[in-house]
Amino acid sequence: MTLALYGGTPVRSAPWPAWPPPLDPEQRKLVGDVLDSGLWGATQGGRVVADLTAAFARASAVPYGVAVGNATLGLFAALKGLGVGRGDEVIVPAYTFVASATAVLLAGATPVIADVDPEHLHLSSEAVERAVTGRTAAVMPVHLAGSPVDMDPLNALAARHGLAVVEDAAQAHGATYQDRPVGGLGDAGVYSFQASKAMTAGEGGLIVCRDEAAYEAIWSVCNVGRALGGQWYGHPAVGWNLRLTEIQAALLLPWLDRLDEEIDRRNAFCDALERELAHLPGAGQAEAGSPAAAGRPVTVVPRPPGTTRDSRHLLMLRVHAPVDRDLLLAAMAAEGVPLDAGYPPLAAMAALTAEGARAEACPASEEAARSVVWVRQSMLMDDPARAADIAEALAKVLAYRP
Ligand SMILES: Cc1ncc(COP(=O)(O)O)c(C=O)c1O
Repeated sequence: MTLALYGGTPVRSAPWPAWPPPLDPEQRKLVGDVLDSGLWGATQGGRVVADLTAAFARASAVPYGVAVGNATLGLFAALKGLGVGRGDEVIVPAYTFVASATAVLLAGATPVIADVDPEHLHLSSEAVERAVTGRTAAVMPVHLAGSPVDMDPLNALAARHGLAVVEDAAQAHGATYQDRPVGGLGDAGVYSFQASKAMTAGEGGLIVCRDEAAYEAIWSVCNVGRALGGQWYGHPAVGWNLRLTEIQAALLLPWLDRLDEEIDRRNAFCDALERELAHLPGAGQAEAGSPAAAGRPVTVVPRPPGTTRDSRHLLMLRVHAPVDRDLLLAAMAAEGVPLDAGYPPLAAMAALTAEGARAEACPASEEAARSVVWVRQSMLMDDPARAADIAEALAKVLAYRP
């Protein structure tokens, strides 16, 4: 069959679901109410940001939340509020979005880039243990793709070394680890509402935390160094205006009510795709979900142990078949199934090392950069029956011989 890349008929011509989805009536109403009220900023007495932070804190099973302009600033503010700064090191995974590391730089600390575990591609406790020095102040597990890091061993390690734990939950709204919500598993957790995320206001972020003193410090960092309940023009600490607007919060608050349903939908699509992938030509007899992937050209990257709810921000696929990745991505896009190349390892980013980031050996992240591709969240929102389009396009592209 001729590839669409070379003039053949594409496997899929229908568009994938749009992201963000159209506004629902509750969002439209609340955004309209906020616009009409004139209370657009976060310091004018509106209640929507406060309701959003309270709802997120509740959903994360912690008492406190602070809404911010984006998650990069949220990670920065969480680190800063927890006392991380100049002279400190913060361990981040090598396979993550660059902001996990640049937030550390923003706080004046040094990112130390540690490898992920080769199977699940999440920060590995063994790699963290190897990277700890006398200067390590914090560790930043990233709940990549919406599946939680195996937090118990990591928290135990952090407790042993006296490290703060800042969860990068930018991609993991609604995910749970051992039935406990992510974001509330460490000292602070940070969600993103950037345009590609499971809940979005175009941009935005939110920090949750358990400890009152940490909350007050983080709040102050995000509110120009004010003290909670203190004088308006009293600034006992240095801080910045990192606040989210009421208009953004009005897009987000009603979304919380449908988040679970959307996660279910994405999980159903992912399960269907995993079943389809088990039947790709060249596949062995192994059951979908079993680790026995031998003989399969493409497998789903498994969830770390302890995952009880994967929010499926995106689906990571490992391509075992020997194939030119750029050609694969171009051919899949031409077939109407655009996949993403995923992250290059942070350790390979010269801009980070030029700023002083230290990189450990990261072979698993390098391998992931070579062999892993992503199915986007918007595609996962389609009817699960359409997962067959992805498998069909993969089968066609992988079977192609020039
Ligand atoms: C893992 C991770 N961390 C941090 C961020 C930064 O979030 P934001 O774009 O809201 O600053 C993102 C996404 O953008 C992300 O995917």
